[in-house]
Amino acid sequence: MAKKTLEDCPPETLANEVVVVRVDYNLPLDQNGEVADDTRLVRTLPTIQYLIEAGAKAVLLSHLGRPGGRPEPGLSLRPVAGKLQGALGSPVGFCPETTGPLAREAVHGMESGDVLLLENTRFCPEETRNDPAWAEEIRYGSKLFVNDAFGTAHRTHASTKGIADAVRAGGGEAVAGFLLEKELRFLCDAMADPEHPFVAVIGGAKISSKIDVIEALLPIVDRLLIGGAMANTFFQARGWAVGDSLVEEDRIDTARSLMDLAGDKLLLPVDVVTAPRIASGATTRVSACDDVREGERIGDIGPHTVKSFTDALGGARTVIWSGPMGVFELAPFQAGTFEVARAAASTADRGATVIVGGGDSAAAAAAAGVADRITHISTGGGASLELLSGKELPGVAALSDR
Ligand code: 3PG
Ligand code: MG
Repeated sequence: MAKKTLEDCPPETLANEVVVVRVDYNLPLDQNGEVADDTRLVRTLPTIQYLIEAGAKAVLLSHLGRPGGRPEPGLSLRPVAGKLQGALGSPVGFCPETTGPLAREAVHGMESGDVLLLENTRFCPEETRNDPAWAEEIRYGSKLFVNDAFGTAHRTHASTKGIADAVRAGGGEAVAGFLLEKELRFLCDAMADPEHPFVAVIGGAKISSKIDVIEALLPIVDRLLIGGAMANTFFQARGWAVGDSLVEEDRIDTARSLMDLAGDKLLLPVDVVTAPRIASGATTRVSACDDVREGERIGDIGPHTVKSFTDALGGARTVIWSGPMGVFELAPFQAGTFEVARAAASTADRGATVIVGGGDSAAAAAAAGVADRITHISTGGGASLELLSGKELPGVAALSDR
């Protein structure tokens, strides 16, 4: 890797040093405000454990949600500190400020091997503005900044970019943590030097959010499978009715030109599951893609499509999957996504490299019970899409060069 990582920081250089670590603890919360999934937290443990064992003083920064630059009690990181303490099996301090006298005092009072989580960076308006003076404040005089927040690496914020610049300007180093390093390795290697056949599965609601990824993948993949609501826009481009289904009217031309560009690399659904409404008790019908009726909504790919997609995945040596095939949160529309998840896992069992983009597809792999068989599940949704599109991530670009 072109950027320095925590491996470039021998433990003996870290003892008694304040090390600021940007993590992405923007964890999904349930209706009661409890952490619904702690995957992102668990994946940062190797970095934090390394710092504890080296006797550093680890000051952790994260955002949670989008509070818009002012405190919002429901988005406090306090419960997350409790989660982290449980996962680490050692004490984690929490400070209800990100900057200010309490935070400075808390950092000042740290001892070798301590871990301290500061309050949500987005409670402060300076964070998303990437305010340089505030970035200098959250550095807490440290000579080492570790970015382990892959999920936020596509944001140009004070705790991702500004602090890295500030630490380097102060003669220190800004390095990738073990999670960030692993994410970059898997995603960049797959794009740079994939083993073939290389199959990409792209789903989700909108072409507009995936167009850059599709364009970047097309020249290097052997097969591109498209499912999810974004396939509807391709159906329209072919002149097929889609009933009351979601369509991006302004992307029909995009779909048409992608079909021309992709030729027979592109595999679109041949059948779909429809219902009068997308609800858990809905009565469904399997329909050919050119036979969707008025008043129907498409909620999933159909069984023939599942067969063609799983066949394509079966022989792959590299797989990238981003975006569900349907509304997998609702039982009548989950089969397509779950079958794709199982096929991807079986392909990984046979030794292929299978990478799942973050967000919905990561949740789908977990819901299908195959998450632990996937080679790499990214903790970044937007960040993985930008990286796969060939874009530079500002949080990574700001790190020290090797
Ligand atoms: C995410 O969950 O996508 C990251 O934590 C980034 O959050 P954001 O989209 O609110 O910047
Ligand atoms: Mg996001």
